Amino acid sequence: MKQRIKQSIENLKQLSVNTLEELEQLRIQYLGKKGVLNDLFAQFKTVPNEEKREMGSLLNELKTAVQTKIETLRDALEAKIESKITIDDLTKPAYLETLGSRHPISLVRNEITNIFAQIGYTVEEGPEIEDDWHVFSALNFPPEHPARDMQDTFFIENREDGNNTVLRTHTSSVQVRTMEKQQPPIRIIAPGRVFRNEAISARAHCIFHQIEGLYIDKNVSFADLKQSLYYFAKEMFGAETQIRLRPSYFPFTEPSAEMDVSCNLCGGKGCNVCKGTGWLEIMGCGMVDPNVLEASGIDSTIYSGFAFGMGVERIAMLKYGVNDLRMYFENDVRFLNQFKTFI
Ligand code: DAH
Repeated sequence: MKQRIKQSIENLKQLSVNTLEELEQLRIQYLGKKGVLNDLFAQFKTVPNEEKREMGSLLNELKTAVQTKIETLRDALEAKIESKITIDDLTKPAYLETLGSRHPISLVRNEITNIFAQIGYTVEEGPEIEDDWHVFSALNFPPEHPARDMQDTFFIENREDGNNTVLRTHTSSVQVRTMEKQQPPIRIIAPGRVFRNEAISARAHCIFHQIEGLYIDKNVSFADLKQSLYYFAKEMFGAETQIRLRPSYFPFTEPSAEMDVSCNLCGGKGCNVCKGTGWLEIMGCGMVDPNVLEASGIDSTIYSGFAFGMGVERIAMLKYGVNDLRMYFENDVRFLNQFKTFI
């Protein structure tokens, strides 16, 4: 009997199977009701007492060896079957990679940039931490202008001589930086983050994004401004879009205007997005004030130009129907995931 057990343990080592059926046969052969182990355990009863101890432990050794062998063979078979499926079954659907998505603000910024790139505008950038000159003085803001107030502007350094360091309150500062380093023709847009000391609500945020535009050359007129912005409005909101310009005031433009586009939701009939007016205000614009040209070293007797500035969040709100500004800054993936298809 001892011999038989030892032989069985040896035999086990050589065993191999090719299918799950063969494995099942093997299991029955060893562990089944009439299998080798039951047979040996039956014989065990007849073993003389003094040999029982040694025989018992040998039998247990065989039993564990059988169980381990069967498990190892099963694992190997299953791994083989699995790899066969992935290699052989070319019709199996591919695993989808989880793709990230662009932020809606980036999507809109890119779209606006591309629309202006088609008519020759290049992109300029400037610092978010600016000096008083580039944000206010060079743009013709008088010293007592309310926009310079502590209530609107985040100050980094408040100096006696007035040359403060601030977080830029608008991207118009990039106009100045561009004119300082480059003579006309200038045709740029400047996208970027701006900062204002506002209480955060659904309609206001202390950080938001603007896109500034500047076009300076000889003989640039208000008609050029109108036509360029009309082109932009149609590209952005659809071919049917109409624009209207309302007189306004900005220190750096003269004359100045606010531009509205016809409401693309109701087609101009009036709805709750356009508050029944049929129009949506989307940007400020105007002819660059000669004082602004001169402050940056451009001869206003030779050159003229126009400028415009718009809020990216505002355009994104109109485009995607998102009516709470805070959503753009919360990084909630349930919100962001909705823009996947817009890549
Ligand atoms: N800087 C203005 C603002 O932040 C926007 C603006 C209006 C920019 C008119 C311009 C412009 O260039 O001509 O509200």
